[in-house]
Amino acid sequence: MAGELDVQGAKNSILPLLSGTVLCQGESVLHNCPNLSDADAACRILNCLGCKCTRVNKSITVNSELLLNTDVPEELMREMRSSIVFLGAILGRTRQCKLTFPGGCELGPRPIDLHLMALRKMGVEIKNESGYLECSAPKGIHGAHISLSLPSVGATENIILAAVTAKGTTEIHNAAREPEITDLADFLNKCGARINGAGSGTVIIEGVEKLGGAEHKVIPDRIVAATYLCCAAITRGEIILKNADFSHISALVPVFEQMGCKIYGYNSDGEDRIYINARKPLRAPHKIITTWHPGFPTDAQPMFMALASTLKGTSVFEETIFDNRFRHADELMRLGAKISVNKTIAVVEGVNRLSGADVKATDLRGGAALVTAALFAEGTSRISGISHIDRGYDDLVGNLKKIGADINNA
Ligand code: EPZ
Repeated sequence: MAGELDVQGAKNSILPLLSGTVLCQGESVLHNCPNLSDADAACRILNCLGCKCTRVNKSITVNSELLLNTDVPEELMREMRSSIVFLGAILGRTRQCKLTFPGGCELGPRPIDLHLMALRKMGVEIKNESGYLECSAPKGIHGAHISLSLPSVGATENIILAAVTAKGTTEIHNAAREPEITDLADFLNKCGARINGAGSGTVIIEGVEKLGGAEHKVIPDRIVAATYLCCAAITRGEIILKNADFSHISALVPVFEQMGCKIYGYNSDGEDRIYINARKPLRAPHKIITTWHPGFPTDAQPMFMALASTLKGTSVFEETIFDNRFRHADELMRLGAKISVNKTIAVVEGVNRLSGADVKATDLRGGAALVTAALFAEGTSRISGISHIDRGYDDLVGNLKKIGADINNA
């Protein structure tokens, strides 16, 4: 494949940003918002809380002057597991909140013990009864010194959201360092918050009285960028990604280079871009271990497994973040991939050819992995379960067509 593509705004940024608007007693405008079912679900939650959430193309305006409700109904919570990130914001604004305990998901159990531990330390009383979390802070929310046993993205976001209007200062140690954390802090600071250290392992939040609204542009989606780069590599092509932040994919670059790709970031007319050339014969990356940012992101593992399936040699994948994130391996094997999975280790023997087949997306990135592999496979593949893909990719089909893929929505 060859050509140029614009990278969408980040799904894992727009969700906490939309939650953050609940804290704002005014109007906020978020630009570069991708059209995703998860973003629509977040907007439905905002409207249910009494905020006015409207979208015009890639901009979402939220007026949260009036917050009429503090409970998120079960059907909305169930639509999207990451709705838990509304908990910190609703508490930060109203000091009370009731929502259902978010279930696990396709990737395995998704506990929220760190979220709850931290909020309790900040003075929130939490009752977990018959699947509901009933939270209140009768004496208000106060700052706390919180050390996380693991750098949970969601827990870091929830703590920041609850801490921006708390009394006093909150320190988060072993905080998540993902770029989406920095994006959230940048937006909240524009609204009047006082957050320092976002993107590092220690985040300090000084509580302020109230937040106003602000305008903000969502950062590019680094996992969508990784997906397009894998699609280019698996078809031995050459593409340019526009509005893509090379510094957000630093752990992926050595893997692409080890495979034999040429990849670099540059700026053209004020626009960040990423270039990849995979036209040379490629070889398998020896070992990919997923870990916390800035390490190799777990969200990119499925697409790299699809790519590795077609490269000469053996690759070993170790998944250290989620318990059940190799479900796409079975479906890749239906296309002819040679993969053996044992708990959190997957060994991939590269093959010269894959053949088209009917396969089923098991989850968001697993679905993206199947699309990636199908671009290489001989013949036609039919991928079902694409609602998973629609959660995180804005017009994946249209974008891949732009760079030469023979792909259609059924
Ligand atoms: C965010 O999920 C992302 N989702 C995920 O992306 C991403 O894979 C994940 O971070 C890790 O980077 C969003 O941002 C919406 P975590 P989150 O809290 O916040 C354990 C995608 O494909 N844990 O960092 O839910 C947990 O079991 C999605 O875009 C606890 O034990 O991830 C898991 O093993 C998938 N206790 C690990 O930490 C807790 O209280 C990662 O969790 C919280 C988490």
